Amino acid sequence: MLSKKQTQLPIFITSNSPFKSSLFFIIIFLTAWFLLLFFWLPPTNPIHINLHRAYHLISNHIINSHVYRQPFSVYIYDMPSEFNLGLVKNCHHLNMHRDMCPHVANHGLGQPLQHVNAVSPACWFATNQFTAAMIFHARLENHPLRTWDPSRATLFYVPFYGGLHASSKFRETNLTARDELAVRFSEFLESQPWWQRNNGKDHFVVLGRTAWDFMRTKSGPDYGASTLLNLPRVQNLSVLAIERNPWRTNQHGIPYPSYFHPCTSSQVLTWQHSMRLSKRPHLFSFVGAPRKGSQRAAIRYELIKQCGESIRCKLLTCRYGSGASNKCSSPSEILGVMSKSQFCLQAPGDSFTRRSTFDSVLAGCIPVFFSRHTAYTQYMWYLPQDAEEYSVYINGENGNATRRIEDELMKIPRERVERMRKKVIDLIPRVTYKHPNASDDGEFEDAVDVAVAALANHVQSVLSKE
Ligand SMILES: *[C@@H]1O[C@H](CO)[C@@H](O)[C@H](O)[C@H]1NC(C)=O
Ligand SMILES: *[C@@H]1O[C@H](CO)[C@@H](O)[C@H](O)[C@H]1NC(C)=O
Ligand SMILES: *[C@@H]1O[C@H](CO)[C@@H](O)[C@H](O)[C@H]1NC(C)=O
Ligand SMILES: *[C@@H]1O[C@H](CO)[C@@H](O)[C@H](O)[C@H]1NC(C)=O
Repeated sequence: MLSKKQTQLPIFITSNSPFKSSLFFIIIFLTAWFLLLFFWLPPTNPIHINLHRAYHLISNHIINSHVYRQPFSVYIYDMPSEFNLGLVKNCHHLNMHRDMCPHVANHGLGQPLQHVNAVSPACWFATNQFTAAMIFHARLENHPLRTWDPSRATLFYVPFYGGLHASSKFRETNLTARDELAVRFSEFLESQPWWQRNNGKDHFVVLGRTAWDFMRTKSGPDYGASTLLNLPRVQNLSVLAIERNPWRTNQHGIPYPSYFHPCTSSQVLTWQHSMRLSKRPHLFSFVGAPRKGSQRAAIRYELIKQCGESIRCKLLTCRYGSGASNKCSSPSEILGVMSKSQFCLQAPGDSFTRRSTFDSVLAGCIPVFFSRHTAYTQYMWYLPQDAEEYSVYINGENGNATRRIEDELMKIPRERVERMRKKVIDLIPRVTYKHPNASDDGEFEDAVDVAVAALANHVQSVLSKE
């Protein structure tokens, strides 16, 4: 699915008469007021309000390839290094479980992989799931839509690697110390003249960890999160994160990075072609580790059990954090299993979402979800609105996956399976992070292109309503 260069996309010109536009604004204002009165309740009962909100959010945010694109440009702030490169320099101490230095190398792509596939080896990396912010930054620095002139910018990107910092402070018991950098970040924003112009509504940050890692509240339990996204000054900022809080309209889901970072569009076409031809002897597969404790863990346990009992399922279990012997940390093992499977089970893990969803798309394996928050309420910019076009949903909320997965999957007609697989393979470019040094030749839209175009549309519509 290669699309034209953005600069060649049709330009959308509005030509409203003054009368029409004031009527328009009155209607928008009344509608907004109405919606505010009815839906702006604190999410004390998420299940109850879920439906209204999800519908509202999806209809606002979905971006199809046919949506008109207005011309736009992105300005990148020059931040004090404590917010980005300084954190990278401190890579030995960023994470209590692992040394992040190999993972932050190559602008967050990690270490190059040699043996994944016949497709050019230079485009495969053992990318860590939490480095999206760095890759995004590197991509934008070389992006054709970048501007050095803030007075011409539509969007302002604030390169803060908040996720790298968050994991280094999970065990910090002094909350003032844990939140110090977040507070300095909000002070930095407020002091910027371009922030004040639109109260920050045209500014965005990219976070390579889930939004929950930045949303500690006074009343809730302390899992190690900071208060970054609950700071009053940060509320007008758009937040792009690998997992969003589905009830926050300024948060937008972006893909977890997978291992493929193509440099040219022909590498993408070659890979898509090989995934279309791939023989898939396994009906389904599960790659993952059992989890202890949470309610969500119950689903995982059930999936592992069902997969182990079925001759049609390929199980790749991971022992938690067991280094080189752990097959789940080998990209070629993971992609090998997924590219030989028709369906890939995506159980929630420590949070709703999983990197594995994007590995499975990359391998042309149809994802099977057990919670709506694993993808449907997360990645509206990226995935078709009609979930049935590319995925299977088995209701597993409240830890319930008692139905036999194998039976459910066997029931799906072959033609529908093929249609879904075609759709999944078509999605590969847009959920992939292109190599930051990719040439612009015959450009395809990657995850960063999709995000900035969707965000520019979103910001322009927010600002035009003020
Ligand atoms: C892209 O190219 C520049 C200049 O050659 C180099 O410094 C940078 O490290 C490259 N980026 C990646 C991700 O390899
Ligand atoms: C907590 O951290 C802050 C900021 O670093 C420091 O000023 C304060 O003394 C610390 N409090 C304790 C009890 O250590
Ligand atoms: C957010 O935007 C609104 C309206 O544009 C403004 O009144 C408010 O002060 C802004 N908040 C911050 C923290 O800048
Ligand atoms: C789980 O699903 C089964 C079959 O769909 C249903 O009979 C059962 O009541 C469900 N249990 C819960 C706790 O929702």
